[in-house]
Amino acid sequence: MTTKTAPQNVIKRINELRDQINHHNYLYYVLDNPEIPDAEFDKLFRELQTLEQQHPELITPESPTQRVGAKPLKVFGEVKHQIPMLSLANAMDEEEVRNFGRRVADTLEQSDAEHIEYTAEPKLDGLAISIVYHDGRLFQAATRGDGFTGEDVTQNVRTINSVPLKLVGRDYPQILEVRGEVYMPKAGFVALNEKQQAAGVKTFANPRNAAAGSLRQLDSSITATRPLAMYCYGVGRVEGATLPERHSDILQRLRQWGLRISPEIKTVHGITGCLAYFAEISKRREKLDYEIDGVVYKVNRIAQQEQLGFVSRAPRWAIAHKFQAQEAMTQVVGIEVSVGRTGALTPVAKLKPVDVGGVTVSNATLHNEDEIERLDVRVGDTVVIYRAGDVIPKVDRVVSSLRPKQTKKFHMPKKCPVCDSDVERREGEAITRCTGGLFCAAQRKNSIKHFNSRRAMDVDGMGDKLVDQLVDKGLIHNAADMYSLDKEQLAGLERMADKSAQNILDALEKSKSTTLARFIYALGIRDVGEATAQALATHFGDLRGLMKSNEEALQQIPDVGPVVANSIVKFFQQPHNREVIDKLIKAGVHWPKVAQITTEAAPLKGKTFVITGTLSIKRDELKARLQSLGAKVTGSVSKSTDYVVVGEEPGSKFDKAEQLGIAILDEAAISKLLKKAEQ
Ligand code: IVH
Repeated sequence: MTTKTAPQNVIKRINELRDQINHHNYLYYVLDNPEIPDAEFDKLFRELQTLEQQHPELITPESPTQRVGAKPLKVFGEVKHQIPMLSLANAMDEEEVRNFGRRVADTLEQSDAEHIEYTAEPKLDGLAISIVYHDGRLFQAATRGDGFTGEDVTQNVRTINSVPLKLVGRDYPQILEVRGEVYMPKAGFVALNEKQQAAGVKTFANPRNAAAGSLRQLDSSITATRPLAMYCYGVGRVEGATLPERHSDILQRLRQWGLRISPEIKTVHGITGCLAYFAEISKRREKLDYEIDGVVYKVNRIAQQEQLGFVSRAPRWAIAHKFQAQEAMTQVVGIEVSVGRTGALTPVAKLKPVDVGGVTVSNATLHNEDEIERLDVRVGDTVVIYRAGDVIPKVDRVVSSLRPKQTKKFHMPKKCPVCDSDVERREGEAITRCTGGLFCAAQRKNSIKHFNSRRAMDVDGMGDKLVDQLVDKGLIHNAADMYSLDKEQLAGLERMADKSAQNILDALEKSKSTTLARFIYALGIRDVGEATAQALATHFGDLRGLMKSNEEALQQIPDVGPVVANSIVKFFQQPHNREVIDKLIKAGVHWPKVAQITTEAAPLKGKTFVITGTLSIKRDELKARLQSLGAKVTGSVSKSTDYVVVGEEPGSKFDKAEQLGIAILDEAAISKLLKKAEQ
């Protein structure tokens, strides 16, 4: 439908669309930093195309529909493509591929469409490149640019290892322009982003942008450090030789000349062959070491290609069959924090449901506090969601131009959203954790299983499956609840006879009689393994002392540093954890009194030691043993030092000790002293 004079609102919309498309083209092609997903861009582009079709009088030569890609960046030299670098028409589904096949068969007047030969190739997700060889030597390399003029990136392309600087053999044409895709392998992309992040510079949204950003560096020594690779998929200008009659044979020839061709390229028959290839490669897509966003079908015979010709921006003899988009745009309606089995807090973006590659997504992980900070994602934001294969959907980026006014920065909660215990995040760690291990419903199963384990309370027969059932049925909420279970409750469970129920009750009864060290270990305090539990038991002799202790006092104990001390204090600070402990003791859990070496009665109390030189006993171990006997171990010799322990090749501390007349203990002497004190 064509109207004579376009209404004002159409003119306005066309102008808006052109501005937006130009803006996004600039972000994509010039800055290699797209804001919106390709599918969103395509929507804008198609809307503009439709409006222009309805009102052709409004088409201007500057309209973004009238060209391919974006203008080349001025800083690079310009290269005019002798043969334009066009793009491909897209097919989004099988139906569109079949339509393509029908058009091809009709034009070629082929009654048997299944007879037509095609090549089926991966559609590499990188950027198109043209490389011209003169007499077998790399002469010039250029990006596609707007299809007619590209950027001169010769120096940068010379740094890519898979691009030969000189062709192999002799029978190559005098002038050979090859075309292909420069891309970044997945592994290289991950490594590059890690490096960028560590250096505090911008990371890339995906391998394609990383490839484009790397190739379009002004300094080719930077490009040289980037893991770029290239696959050739065709030729441009060729002079001084005749190439084979089939595209697939041309590619073989290129391979013989030393150019890299994807081993995935296959020759197939008819659209049936094309679609079978699509199905096959779709399955292997995740395993390929580079990203592909679809496959390309090309009529194989060059004579037939010529017969088919071109329409505006694309050849009629080829089509790109695209995979469903992995990216989609939607809004964040909330940010919730979930707690995992180990107590890790994970922020999750609640989304307005959106289809990503055929799956409806309404949640996306935000990983941790740092990730939220990096993305600066807020409730109300429009975000780009990314989903690949079985990977959990994630928020890839925020479309900052669409942020509403008055959004608030998100902060992690201070209390566990499940059990209201304090949360903690340690220095140098990304994960925030709940400290209510014994009580927290999210950690219930894990903490009970640990409590029952052999080296903890050793509740024989109370396996993981049984714990799962008991928790799922609401019969127990924490370890202490196990001691109030009765036979009927147990016998009512799956695969549980009267006899086995009784066995469990007996095992629970037996477990009540334990040791303090086992009990401390069974509590599942973060960082408190068996050895530390043992050290705490010996030091405090009873549980109350440990529960009342503070970080400073705890650090006097061998093996307990500031981090562990903090975990212990935090754990016992949580009222819910204390409630569970009280219940356990009321249920009858008990242990024999521990022969305790208290700091007061310690044989080396008040004595200060300094250690220098190499001893056969490990320095840490010696330090720990001295400390457990009440001694202080310091790093430098002074008047208040009581003993200096001297090993092989002692340092200046030995000289200082002699000067000050401080008692010197050699290895034999310290061993004797320890033996006596530890008796
Ligand atoms: S042939 C005239 N083959 O897709 C036909 N292109 O949308 C020129 N691409 O600019 C393209 N893999 O960057 C062709 N095997 C392949 C391809 C491929 C990726 C890219 C290329 C091109 C874009 C077209």
